[in-house]
Amino acid sequence: MRVLGINAIFHDPAAALVVDGTVVAAAEEERFSRRKHGKRPVPFSAWELPELSAAWCLASAGIDVDNLDAVAYSFDPGLCRDAADLGLGDPWDWLRVDYAKRAPQFLAAALPGLDPEKVRFVPHHVAHAASAGLAAPRAGDDTAVLVLDGRGEVASHLAGVYRDGRLSALYSQQLPHSLGLLYEDLTRHLGFLHSSDEYKVMALASYGRPRHLGLLRELVRATDDGGFRVERIDWASMAKARTADGEMTEEHADLAASVQARLEEVVLDLSRWLYDAAGGASTLAMAGGVALNCVANARLAAEGPYREVWVQPAAGDSGTALGAALHMAGTLGDRPTPLAGVDLGRGWSDEELEAELRRAALPYTRPASIAAEAARVLATNGIVAWYQGRSEYGPRALGHRSLLAHPGDPATTARMNDVKGREQFRPIAPMVRAERFAEIFEGVFPSPYMLFVHRVKPEWRDRIPAVTHVDGTARVQTVHADTEPVVAEMLAEFERLTGLPVVVNTSLNTAGRPMVDTPREAMELFGSAPVDLLALGPFAVHRRSLAGDW
Ligand SMILES: [Fe+2]
Repeated sequence: MRVLGINAIFHDPAAALVVDGTVVAAAEEERFSRRKHGKRPVPFSAWELPELSAAWCLASAGIDVDNLDAVAYSFDPGLCRDAADLGLGDPWDWLRVDYAKRAPQFLAAALPGLDPEKVRFVPHHVAHAASAGLAAPRAGDDTAVLVLDGRGEVASHLAGVYRDGRLSALYSQQLPHSLGLLYEDLTRHLGFLHSSDEYKVMALASYGRPRHLGLLRELVRATDDGGFRVERIDWASMAKARTADGEMTEEHADLAASVQARLEEVVLDLSRWLYDAAGGASTLAMAGGVALNCVANARLAAEGPYREVWVQPAAGDSGTALGAALHMAGTLGDRPTPLAGVDLGRGWSDEELEAELRRAALPYTRPASIAAEAARVLATNGIVAWYQGRSEYGPRALGHRSLLAHPGDPATTARMNDVKGREQFRPIAPMVRAERFAEIFEGVFPSPYMLFVHRVKPEWRDRIPAVTHVDGTARVQTVHADTEPVVAEMLAEFERLTGLPVVVNTSLNTAGRPMVDTPREAMELFGSAPVDLLALGPFAVHRRSLAGDW
């Protein structure tokens, strides 16, 4: 079966293609349109479709629109109710529902030749659940699944269990109670962009003390039926609202710390209820925007009842494109296969990359090993734009569209945040050779998708200060030579030169822009930021080799 998955309803529009149960292509629209998160999450934008990424998914697999068996759309307007009945203060919500109802016709217009009858609605949280429960590596047992989201049609959460590829939903918390919307409200109150900058709040929380935890325990609490309550919160009583360019104070950090701590507690409560209700499944798979909270994930893995916690790398709404397609493939009789990796986006052949370099008239070389070339530049404290293979699906750069640096220089954090125009309180993350992980870090292993924070062992904190956050943690990507041979070779060579098996890894983009996707965008970034080496596939462009020509 050939199923195209579409996420379009709220934000992070994306497309994914599943063929015979396997994801063969997936991409977020922002990588094509160059608009961060694709669009703003307002009802007026609900009609906008991931046209470019959908067309690319089909073209990359050589599949014509009329050969699709189904298009799975990750929202079911048939489940919706009036926003006022849901307790949501959104007078235009009906418009979103109306656009969703017309999605088959909009899709037929965006993908000429598509029969609108092939478009099937998949409930939003079933799509999130499938993106986790059907994509997780299978241990052969049942898989418990927890969706923690902002909102879907009428709910914000789903707790269930996958048995033999079939979802049994055990509880779904109805709106307006929502952990995702709670965190979005806090994000807005702290002067950040909601549905976008929640990870900044999580980083800010490390600087504060959770002194409002007592009050928040009254206002946000799990109920003993598997759901939870979020009462009205008077944010201003705890910290005054901050504007986007306003001063960040201790009271803002304390508020962030308090909500973060309460979120972790409630997530733990929900996961324990699910463990009992699902009959003791040993693996928990998670999705929904809240599942991108890697501090909460790490605490859940450490203190929760599960042997393994697996988080969908595209846990936010973009992942529902993949989840809706996997769910529909299963419904149509295919057996969905676990996700092998997230390098599911666009890629270019060596010949195509070389042609791009020639067109740009950049002086390039083809070293014997691009991994060794990059390691040499990193060892001398240079910054490397690392562009290899197909681009990543989801919000994390994982060694395909990455900006790399030396972890041993404390000044690296400020330098990288300057390159990227980011706030200085935000940490930068390490990638580490899997073989060396246990010597340096504590916590979830393997961690190939950077979805957990880890404790940096005290004896290593001074050796890798650039990636050690203020609270002594790091958000680690473990690199495994069997799945990421070029990245693993780069790390091994860097260790040979410096004694450090760790490299700073942040996403290849500049402030406010989506991650680089095409070779041309990589060259534009290289030309506009103080980057010392562009490692474009097997080719090297050194900044110093440009200097002589100028
Ligand atoms: Fe969602």
